Amino acid sequence: MKALLLDGKKVAGHIKEDVARQVEELKSRNILPRLVVVLVGKDPASEVYVRNKARACEKLGIQSETIHLDEKTGEEELLRQIRLLNEERSVHGILVQLPLPGHMDSDKVIAAINPDKDVDCFHPRNVGLLMQGHPYLLPCTPAGIVEILKYYTIDTQGKHIVILGRSNIVGKPLANMLVQKNKWANATVTLAHSRTKNIRELCVQADILVAAIGKPAFVTADMVKEGATVIDVGINRVDDGDSPRGYRLSGDVHFETVAQKAAAITPVPGGVGPMTIAMLMQNTVTAARYISGIKEQI
Ligand code: GUN
Repeated sequence: MKALLLDGKKVAGHIKEDVARQVEELKSRNILPRLVVVLVGKDPASEVYVRNKARACEKLGIQSETIHLDEKTGEEELLRQIRLLNEERSVHGILVQLPLPGHMDSDKVIAAINPDKDVDCFHPRNVGLLMQGHPYLLPCTPAGIVEILKYYTIDTQGKHIVILGRSNIVGKPLANMLVQKNKWANATVTLAHSRTKNIRELCVQADILVAAIGKPAFVTADMVKEGATVIDVGINRVDDGDSPRGYRLSGDVHFETVAQKAAAITPVPGGVGPMTIAMLMQNTVTAARYISGIKEQI
């Protein structure tokens, strides 16, 4: 393999060490950072993510609770639960795991979360602040990607970054962060999606290519410029009879061939995934510091 492996697990480990120190500091002031995750239904991938989040909290000394609601729960009941958490003084972070069942309006649910406790950075207030360049908290997966680039000193300034996927969770906020006027951004960003024409021609121009579309092995070697950095956000389950689980995880990038051409690449698993969780831990602690008045908001 030619490419440098961008080890998200290692970078996440460093960030979590720092978060653990911040937790100790908060505890010395009698503040116990606390995250509540709400999961509606039984989506198997969501159940894994939620379990991993709870486990990470436990390791770092952050209090966490997962509220499991039945698939058929009405939207009003979910909104009622959110209002209770908004008011609860001991709760610093609220995360509603997406996707929600089809009968719920995700935008309405997200907007109901107290923006001070919005550790996903999905609330319209926080998305707006991010866009203006004065973030309250940073969105977890995009922030995790930026931290990987920082750790490996991969320069973004003046670089052409092509992002595949225009989701509110990754593509749109990441594009936003990377065009900001600061040392770890200043990039020229192209946000490509399912209606983009000539995707291949666009991708080969990228100094940094980010794939966040949820299509296994979509990015092939012919789409990658020699020496580019490739960030794979995809975590797709692909049927695999040889695996005891019946499936294996595949990124959005065809790793084996792209790793022969790229200068640096994130693996799946062990790339962006662990970073999302590390940044969520960081956001929970930062929210606790804001809410308790230790850290000033802008
Ligand atoms: N579903 C997939 N990624 C995420 C995330 O980062 N936050 C939430 N709340 N749901 C998700």
